[in-house]
Amino acid sequence: MPARTLAVVVLAAGQGTRMKSATPKVLHRLAGLPLIQHVLESSAALEPEHLVAVVRHERDLVVTSIVETTPTALIVDQDDVPGTGRAVEQAVEALPADFDGDVVVVSADVPFLDHGTLRGLLEQHREEAAAATLLSAVLPDATGYGRVVRLASGDVERIVEHKDATDAERALREINSGTYAFTVAALRAQLPRVGSANAQNEKYVTDVVGLLTGAGEKVAARAVDETWRLEGINDRVQLAVAARRLNDRIVEHWQREGVSIVDPQTTWIDRDVALSPDVELLPGTQLKGATYVAAGAVVGPDTTLVDTEVGEGAVVKRTDATLAVIGARASVGPFSYLRPGTTLGEGGKIGTFVETKNAEIGAGSKVPHLSYIGDTEVGTDSNIGAGTITANYDGVSKHRTEVGSNVRTGSHNVFVAPVRIGDGAYSGAGTVVRKDVPAGALALSIAPQRNASGWVEANRPGTAAAEAAARAERTTD
Ligand code: UD1
Ligand code: CA
Repeated sequence: MPARTLAVVVLAAGQGTRMKSATPKVLHRLAGLPLIQHVLESSAALEPEHLVAVVRHERDLVVTSIVETTPTALIVDQDDVPGTGRAVEQAVEALPADFDGDVVVVSADVPFLDHGTLRGLLEQHREEAAAATLLSAVLPDATGYGRVVRLASGDVERIVEHKDATDAERALREINSGTYAFTVAALRAQLPRVGSANAQNEKYVTDVVGLLTGAGEKVAARAVDETWRLEGINDRVQLAVAARRLNDRIVEHWQREGVSIVDPQTTWIDRDVALSPDVELLPGTQLKGATYVAAGAVVGPDTTLVDTEVGEGAVVKRTDATLAVIGARASVGPFSYLRPGTTLGEGGKIGTFVETKNAEIGAGSKVPHLSYIGDTEVGTDSNIGAGTITANYDGVSKHRTEVGSNVRTGSHNVFVAPVRIGDGAYSGAGTVVRKDVPAGALALSIAPQRNASGWVEANRPGTAAAEAAARAERTTD
């Protein structure tokens, strides 16, 4: 017998009132990914024939996120009838009329539900030929969740929502996770019978359970031991708890892969970050997006890297970097700000109080102190003097600065772009480089220094400076 076909329905239409946020709840991020993306990933891993997402609140924002990763998802817009029951009903209506398989229903706000747990649910549902199988968990504090009400026989009877429950029902600790497998036939038969006479005036999908058992159909509950996997995110307290938990798991994963993490409590690593063995992460490090750190690199303390690549053996200290590429054995920081488009070659240096943007700094080249380098290309083994500014913006357009290889520029230069400094050129301290500097030339733009002898004693008589000058004259006499 061929396996029955499968549809997965992801519920994402709710407002997420308890978040008190302008951002729809399912787009709040956990380890760098919107909540709904965690759920789409485990749903897609079931390889369903149909993946349906039900949307309504801020639907355009939610749909944009869905199609980014799951362009084949069937998007269903929930109408004015509120409740998870209506959401599932409309999802089922959107399936082909001849679809006669199983429907797995998941909520977009239950991000830890993994593929293995879903697979186990579906397998049990099919083995037991149940009309519905729900994932449940026994929680020490079940507040807020729907409770699984069982008969004296131990069989599932129905689900009651917290807001509708009696005190005795509220004392039950087995909760409905909001994740179910149904036969589509069961949903088609029962959803039209679900009303909304309850505390929230909503059409609850949970009512299908009681209707099925009332009709003599089989409903199973699969209790999950890893109860945290079923926890829903409804408010920011739960979001922070979930973020902590996921981070702990990610940190432990990388520690087991050979990464030294000095302080797991203050090290935050997004889900899509990749690390090599013998990376060392110091306290206060946040690695975000698609950041990659190669073997032997040391990152931190107090460093935030977003979509940034760090090469083998590089050292990145007290740095903020976004969309930057840091070469092998390069050194960055302390107190460096690498903005998008910064690339630093092998063995290069971006030092203290240096800001870079769209800057390609070649292998062995150094920008050690107090500089702004933007829209710039620097060749190899050049040294940019302390306090150098690329004046890249004339108030209308941005212009480029090109610095060759083996260049030595003096302290406190301004490169007024567009300008080019040739290979092996030098510039004096305080030079304002307005014209191209040919290879091997020394650029000087400053007026020669003139000393007016005796100026202080003549113009500031009686001051401490004048007295010091007089003393100095006596000793040199
Ligand atoms: C739901 C369950 C509850 C369960 C809990 C587990 C119902 C009635 N209750 O409660 O038994 O213990 O999940 O986390 O199902 N949604 C829609 N359309 C709507 C309303 C909600 O798509 O009209 C979506 C939401 O976006 C969310 C999911 O359904 O992703 C669950 O909705 P939510 O309001 O969070 O339900 P709970 O009160 O948590
Ligand atoms: Ca919820």
